[in-house]
Order: sequence, then C-alpha cells, then structure tokens
Amino acid sequence: MLAGMRVLVTGGTGFIGSHAVVELIEAGHEVSVVDNLVNSKRSVVDRVARITGTAPELNVADIRDEDALDRIVGDGGFEAVIHFAGLKAVAESVQRPLDYWHANVGGSVTLFRVLDRHAVRTVVFSSSATVYGDPDEVPVTEDMPTKPATNPYGGTKQVIEQILTDLHGADPRWNVGLLRYFNPVGAHQSGLIGEDPNDIPNNLMPIVAQVAAGMLPGVNVYGTDYPTRDGSGVRDYVHVVDLAKGHLAALDRLTAAPGRHVWNLGTGSGTTVLELIAAFGRAAGFEIPHRPADRRPGDVAETWADVTKAERELGWRAVRGIDEMCADAWRWQRYALGLEE
Ligand code: NAD
Ligand code: WQD
Repeated sequence: MLAGMRVLVTGGTGFIGSHAVVELIEAGHEVSVVDNLVNSKRSVVDRVARITGTAPELNVADIRDEDALDRIVGDGGFEAVIHFAGLKAVAESVQRPLDYWHANVGGSVTLFRVLDRHAVRTVVFSSSATVYGDPDEVPVTEDMPTKPATNPYGGTKQVIEQILTDLHGADPRWNVGLLRYFNPVGAHQSGLIGEDPNDIPNNLMPIVAQVAAGMLPGVNVYGTDYPTRDGSGVRDYVHVVDLAKGHLAALDRLTAAPGRHVWNLGTGSGTTVLELIAAFGRAAGFEIPHRPADRRPGDVAETWADVTKAERELGWRAVRGIDEMCADAWRWQRYALGLEE
C-alpha cells in the first residue's frame, strides 16, 4: 500500500477498527474516523495516540446521517474507506431487528451513496464467517455457498455484501474487498485498546476475561456433546492485530488488482471452547471457573477458515496463537477495569 494514503475508517473507535487505525497510522497513512460512539469510547483516540504518537481525527457522527457524511467525505480527500461501523450482537439482533437493519444496511446504503457522490469507490468491508452458516465441510473456502441467515445480524452482512457486489457490477470503478472474519479476539499488546462491550459481552473471549476478572461468576460451556475432540464447539479464533494487518493487505491488493474480492481472515485452525478456557487459565495463572451448559440455539458444532486464498492473494497470514490471544486479552481486561467514561 502506498504510504500516506488518506483513509476513512467507519467504526474506528470500536474493537477491530481501533486496531486497524493503529496499523494504518504505523504504516504512515492518514486516518479519519467516523463513529457515533454507541459501542465505544472517545478516549480510544488518546489511547491510539499513546501507542502510535498520532491521534486520528475523530468525527462523532452516525453513518445514517447523510449530511454529516457528506461534509466529512466532501472535505476529506479520501482514497479508500474501511467500513467497520455497525451493530454486532447476534441475540440482540433477534430482539431488535429494525435497529440492526437500519444501522447496518441503512447506514451502509447512506455511506455508499455519499462515497459514490464524492468518487471514493475503494471499500473494504467487515463481513463475517456467519454468512457461511453451518458449513457443509470445514475448512470453509470463499467459494462455498452462503446459507440463509439464521438471525438478522447475519442477514445484514449478506445484504451489505450483495449491495457492494451490485455496485461493482454496475460500475467497475467500485473496488470492493469483502473480508469474512472468523472469531476476532485478543487485544493490542500495549494493553491500551481492546474489546470494550457496553453491556454483558456476547462472545466467548470477553466473557472468559470478565470471569477471570471476577466480574462474572463462571463460563457456561454451551454444549459438551458436540462431535468434536472434547465435545465443545470449535471456532477459528484470530488475533485482532493479525486481523487488523489483513485490512492493510486488502487495501494493497485492491490497489494492485482492482475488482470485487472475498477473503477469509482466520488462522486456518480451530480451538475448542474448553481449550480456550484452559489457555486463558495459563495466561492468568489460575483456573477459570466454568461449567457444562446446554447448547446455545443457532450454534454450529465447528467452523474454521481455509485461509489459502488470503495467503496467496494478500500475502497475509495470522501469526499469533491462542496463548498470545489470551495473554493480550487478559492484559487489556485488567487495564479496562480502570477505564472510566
Ligand atoms: P464494535 O462494536 O467494537 O465496533 C463497531 C463500531 O461502530 C463501534 O465503535 C460503534 O460505536 C460504531 N457504530 C455502530 N453503529 C454506528 C453507526 N450507525 N454510525 C457510526 N458508528 C457506529 O465491533 P467490532 O467487533 O469492532 O466489529 C467491527 C465490525 O466487524 C462490525 O461491522 C462487525 O459486525 C464486524 N465483525 C465483527 C466480528 C466480531 O466478532 N467482533 C466478527 C465478524 C465481523
Ligand atoms: C464461540 C464459541 C459458543 C459464549 C459470533 C457470531 C459471528 C461473529 C463472531 C460477528 C461457541 C461458545 C460462547 C459462552 C460458550 N460475529 N460459548 N459460552 O458464535 O462463533 O460467532 O461472533 O460477525 O457472526 O455469530 O462466537 O464467541 O459467541 O462463541 O460456550 O458464554 O463459544 O457456543 O462454540 P460465535 P462466540
């Protein structure tokens, strides 16, 4: 990627976005963030500055606000956009579908209209392994068929992928990277940024971290009778710093080979729930309380990524293992306990 690009990052104070902002700044790019702070804190900007020496510009705005976006994009001189902004809690999306369709799809449509108007047509989008549903085989390759979404959150990811695909089909100047993340976890090694859920977390790693911190009583292991090596579910956990670097690799590739591309971002191997809990215990230095519980409705037994396409086309590979993911998540969890605002 050319140094000194101007990149707009929606959702850039969030978990994955903040790590991508760090990587962009460290690679010499100029970053402007749009975030409505619905699930992140303003102080992320100062903490990114402590890591990188540079504070990204922060525009506190909602991606559904067309006038605000028009000003930001119109004045910005951006060459590319990384689009993280959206709501991401699967169970909540079932309870509040309109909020999810409005924020994720409505917000994306508004964003893309504004980008088109200002001829900023290089977009990297945060999609998800959820688009594969319960895969027919593992590891999952990008050309496997997507399955009908089982929840509104997953539906929004499929629809946004389709919108970007249609945009590219209508006008090949749209240069689109659809990144299907597997299970992003961990935190920056500085301990200054990480996943910072406003409510009780939904995902395994932050739950385990909060149990370790004494904020939650114990981890429910949702299913111990799956046909896996220890009976618990298998996922492809990928360190958020590796994931963030994947976005820079995708921008590079979009510059070298314009088009509409899909890439899985994962490690290419699976970890069970019980293995992750044990790894976190090693990182923390004590055993994490956990107990067997019923399967969680909608969960698949196992999924992990085939990452050969990303390796081949992006020259990118995740290098951080599960112990490092847990150690970094634990360092961040202890720091986050003292955060206010
Ligand atoms: P996050 O909630 O930490 O970050 C999302 C950011 O978007 C937050 O800072 C939030 O305040 C902001 N935001 C939400 N709605 C907005 C709106 N309408 N306007 C402006 N800003 C808005 O989540 P994350 O884990 O960093 O996820 C980033 C993206 O990656 C999301 O699109 C998510 O769906 C996707 N993704 C996440 C995971 C995961 O497990 N974390 C997996 C696959 C895909
Ligand atoms: C991981 C494993 C659970 C909590 C979700 C979304 C997906 C993507 C990532 C955004 C499973 C088990 C969990 C707990 C447990 N997000 N578990 N006890 O379900 O793989 O993916 O987040 O795109 O779309 O669906 O992630 O972290 O919720 O669960 O045993 O308290 O941990 O059953 O096997 P999941 P997860």
